[in-house]
Amino acid sequence: MSPVPPVKPEENEFRPHVYDGIREYDKRLPNWWLYTLYITIVFWVGYWGYYEWFRAGPTGAQDVAAEMARIESARLSTAPLDDPSLWKMSRNSEFVAAGKAVYEAACAACHLASLRGKAESTVAIGPDLTDTTWVHGGRPTEVHALINKGVLAKGMPTWGPVLGARKIGEVTAYIMSKHREGEPVVIAPPASP
Ligand code: HEC
Repeated sequence: MSPVPPVKPEENEFRPHVYDGIREYDKRLPNWWLYTLYITIVFWVGYWGYYEWFRAGPTGAQDVAAEMARIESARLSTAPLDDPSLWKMSRNSEFVAAGKAVYEAACAACHLASLRGKAESTVAIGPDLTDTTWVHGGRPTEVHALINKGVLAKGMPTWGPVLGARKIGEVTAYIMSKHREGEPVVIAPPASP
């Protein structure tokens, strides 16, 4: 039998109460236990400040929405390029955000950051992309094809070889995000250059 370590008398004191004949020793909480408690308190302050006070972190609902958008965007990027799938892309936050970046880099110079082009300022070269009047058709596939091919004679560059298929899809989604499926489309004659 291993020798039992000697117990100091003060470690063996009982607390005054007795319940159902059960008595309790009066002992300090061990240090490892106390330090674990203090660390959780410090962690809680940081966690609470990040998520609840400054609201720097995403909420659970935002996390779910972002993940669903990511899954849908992965599915859409392999879908055949037709009007329904382009409309869906235009309602997908990942596609629209990527398309906005492409737009700001490649298109805003002529169509303006607001997409309103000539409708907003006379210095703009490109037409308004937010109204329902289109020169080359307002169906998503028509807009997509037009961006791909360009209208060189009128000063709209051919973007297909420059941007590649994925970015053309994204920028089309961004433009269509300013439109509604089923809205009336007016075909206007091209403005004289
Ligand atoms: C150098 C100036 C310029 C740049 C840059 C430019 N565009 Fe254009 N865009 C034009 C002009 C000019 C027209 C009008 C063509 C016409 O009247 O036939 C046009 C027309 C269009 C149309 C057709 C509008 C309609 O009414 O049918 C779309 C869509 C379009 N641009 C999208 C884009 C996108 C997307 C980009 C960026 C990837 C872009 N443009 C960059 C000048 C530009």
